[in-house]
Amino acid sequence: MNLILVGPPGSGKGTQGTFLIERYDLERISTGDLLRKAVAERTAVGMKARAYMDNGELVPDHIMVEIVDQKLGALHKGFILDGFPRTIEQARALDRSLTKHGQTIDAVIVLAVNDGVLVHRLTGRRVCDQCGENFHITTKPPREDGKCDQCGGDIRQRSDDKEGVIRDRITVYHHQTKPIIDFYRASGILHLIDGERAANEIFSDIARKLETA
Ligand code: AP5
Repeated sequence: MNLILVGPPGSGKGTQGTFLIERYDLERISTGDLLRKAVAERTAVGMKARAYMDNGELVPDHIMVEIVDQKLGALHKGFILDGFPRTIEQARALDRSLTKHGQTIDAVIVLAVNDGVLVHRLTGRRVCDQCGENFHITTKPPREDGKCDQCGGDIRQRSDDKEGVIRDRITVYHHQTKPIIDFYRASGILHLIDGERAANEIFSDIARKLETA
């Protein structure tokens, strides 16, 4: 099974992606995670991407398209694309890449969440440096301040989770990413999901839709 997860920042792409890879034994291609790793390792891509990410802007299409094409060429099982495509140009390039690698997409899952909820989720989000576990300062605080419950690593705020940057990321989603919903609508594989429910309820809904499609 090959899936695309679309949604605004904070809509739960990472959260639902984790459930999906476990249930369906998939590989995750998260462009945000790949970029953050590149930034942390100070690679050439990371050095270029950093300023865009810190400003809440999209990294240029040609960089993203090449990263994803390389990943698609090295896969050994079904996959989830989390955070890609994010523009019409990326969606078109993905079509070309999939054809080149003999792959198709089975479902495009769109998580819908209101802007106010996104801001609340992301301003309060804290992430473990080591294992990536997510916390929230009010809805899911760590047992010990600043320390991860899972691995004891330090938990921090992502550099793009400041309120001004979050609002810019949401605006970018509305202007540049939302049009891809129409791009996929005609394909008959689009599933619009209410992302404002409890995470396990959302996952049950997604799984039901995938299994009855
Ligand atoms: P990326 O890392 O993809 O970030 P994003 O899209 O902004 O999404 P987030 O990771 O913030 O949120 P999410 O939807 O995964 O939600 P999560 O599950 O974590 O991209 C970062 C940057 O990289 C971009 O801004 C851009 O610069 C660049 N980039 C990446 N891909 C690119 C591309 N293709 N082209 C160009 N540039 C690109 O959940 C969020 C929080 O909410 C968590 O705390 C979680 O616990 C909580 N939560 C989740 N679900 C629920 C729920 N149901 N109820 C309550 N809380 C919930």
